[in-house]
Amino acid sequence: MKNHPTSEAESREKIRTFIHADSNTACAELAAEVADLIRTRQKENKSAVLGLATGSTPVPFYKELIRLHQEENLSFANVVTFNLDEYYGLSPEHRESYHRFMRDQLFDHIDIPDENVHIPTGTVPADEVFGSCRQYEEAIEMAGGIDIQVLGIGRTGHIGFNEPGSTRDSRTRRITLDPVTRQDAAGDFLGEENVPRFAITMGVGTILSARRVVLMAWGENKAAVLARTVEGPVTDSVPASFLQEHADATFLIDEAASKELTRIKTPWLVGAVEWEPLRTRGAVIWLAGTLKEPILKLVDRGYNENGMSELLTEQGPAYNLNIRIFNEIQHTISGWPGGKPNADDTHRPERAAPFPKRVLIFSPEPHDAIASMAGTVNRLCEQGHEVLLINQTSGSLRVPDTEAIRFCHALLETASDQETNWTGQIAYAKGIIERLQAKGFNDIDPPEVRRLKALLLRGEALDAAAVCKLPPTCIRFLDLPFYDKGRYRRFELTDADVTLVRQVLEEVKPHQVYATGNLADPSTMQSLCFRTLSQALSNLKGASWLKDCRLWMYRGKEIPVQVAEIAMAVPMSPDQANLKNHSIHQFQSITETESNAVNQNREIAAQYDRLGMAEYEAIEAFERETISDL
Ligand code: F6R
Repeated sequence: MKNHPTSEAESREKIRTFIHADSNTACAELAAEVADLIRTRQKENKSAVLGLATGSTPVPFYKELIRLHQEENLSFANVVTFNLDEYYGLSPEHRESYHRFMRDQLFDHIDIPDENVHIPTGTVPADEVFGSCRQYEEAIEMAGGIDIQVLGIGRTGHIGFNEPGSTRDSRTRRITLDPVTRQDAAGDFLGEENVPRFAITMGVGTILSARRVVLMAWGENKAAVLARTVEGPVTDSVPASFLQEHADATFLIDEAASKELTRIKTPWLVGAVEWEPLRTRGAVIWLAGTLKEPILKLVDRGYNENGMSELLTEQGPAYNLNIRIFNEIQHTISGWPGGKPNADDTHRPERAAPFPKRVLIFSPEPHDAIASMAGTVNRLCEQGHEVLLINQTSGSLRVPDTEAIRFCHALLETASDQETNWTGQIAYAKGIIERLQAKGFNDIDPPEVRRLKALLLRGEALDAAAVCKLPPTCIRFLDLPFYDKGRYRRFELTDADVTLVRQVLEEVKPHQVYATGNLADPSTMQSLCFRTLSQALSNLKGASWLKDCRLWMYRGKEIPVQVAEIAMAVPMSPDQANLKNHSIHQFQSITETESNAVNQNREIAAQYDRLGMAEYEAIEAFERETISDL
């Protein structure tokens, strides 16, 4: 892995970076390297010292280590571990503590001796933190230093919890978490207000002292910070960039996380490329953005000066190329997402026939489809298509306790206002309130409470859909079992989940499917929900209706789609933008990204406008996936 030659395409990368098809192959490679080290040290009667991370990123790596232990007799008896960090204030038993995480994800499944495991203690009194951190550093030294340090990266560019501002020489210490990091942990703690404000973390200097460092990153949300880390300057505003100064640092990333690297995003700047159609479109859009010119005003010189002279020779002059790409983008715009009946559809993103179409919209949590495509839902309904909105999971984990309590109080008030006897309802409301009061801070909800939260969210989902003119008969709640049995970052899909999705597909035989999550971090809900769909679709390969079915992807919590990737752009009038906002606000528990969704749609419209297209109020955008490629 270490001696991979760098190519011209990688010339801007200052850290050796390997792009894998998915996280599983990357993790298998790292696990094999770790297993080699452990076995070599076993033969020498020495220990292997590993630095470990928590979070979503290393989960598939730990799964592979467990597999190697169970199936290939890899023993961890000679392994010593040091974890990067722990939330300050959380006891080792707390369900979100990193102690607990490591036991659940790795230590309980392998034969590592307890005394070999080291994780910073989150409950040290404030005046003892300094001493305790120093002891941690000493323990690393006593163990002979870290052989391989495994890392993830936060959206702030943190490694461990070394937030922006951390210095190169920092050592283990208590730090204040960045607001972005706390937002990212909000799901785990059932609300940002519950996320600890401080953490104990190894320092940047501690990490750099490891003999080898391997950082992993999955999903599109990491793409921007990853490119800054690998290609940008070394700066304490991106603490991971200090890894450029490490003699043996490697990054293992998946394709989604690689999207902002120069060799992927603008490869013509670092060598010769094949000018296939999609790349050409992306390059022209990029050039227009870089030169701040609409497409039709680009000239030969602009192409030549920006690494695109070969494109110009092949497909120019500029004017011809401009017109072609302008038309291509123009043809992505359609106010008829289900196809325009009886119209020439040669240049439309969706076919005219059949009409009406059977349309299935998959929403991982009830909020997702509304926040991403409420305007399109509205158009599909008003244009007469048979729409079925499938809420894949109940979304109950997002509903705060206060919402359940408010409902119970309203129920008790209503009961006291009735002449008839509402004893059943009163007992129910009191029972829920008692369960919530008995629940410890941050504890998981008992099943009855979780069910109530799911039902409350159902009500909101029906209201949100009604705003888009979608009646209750066109909405289904699938309640996929993986969600109700698990919690964020610890979900496990089973065949039962895929079967439920397959049954809906077989029942409806859709002409169009809308979905999300193909580019998300694999441990997220959105990614898992997409996997239920992609597995169901591949199980159905060969079904005759599938040949006529198109798959349209919308973006949810991932970064917004780039214009070059858009295959269908559905414009929204100012009224529709208001309607969408209204629809989103039917949900009590909306995130900042969701409440900002219409502004994102406005930004896409502004980008189209800057390229020289018509100026719309807002645009909802979709990419197209080929079902047979899944
Ligand atoms: C965890 C840690 C953090 C995470 C980072 C990414 O021990 O130190 O730096 O690696 O926040 O988190 P995930 O993997 O959840 O995206």
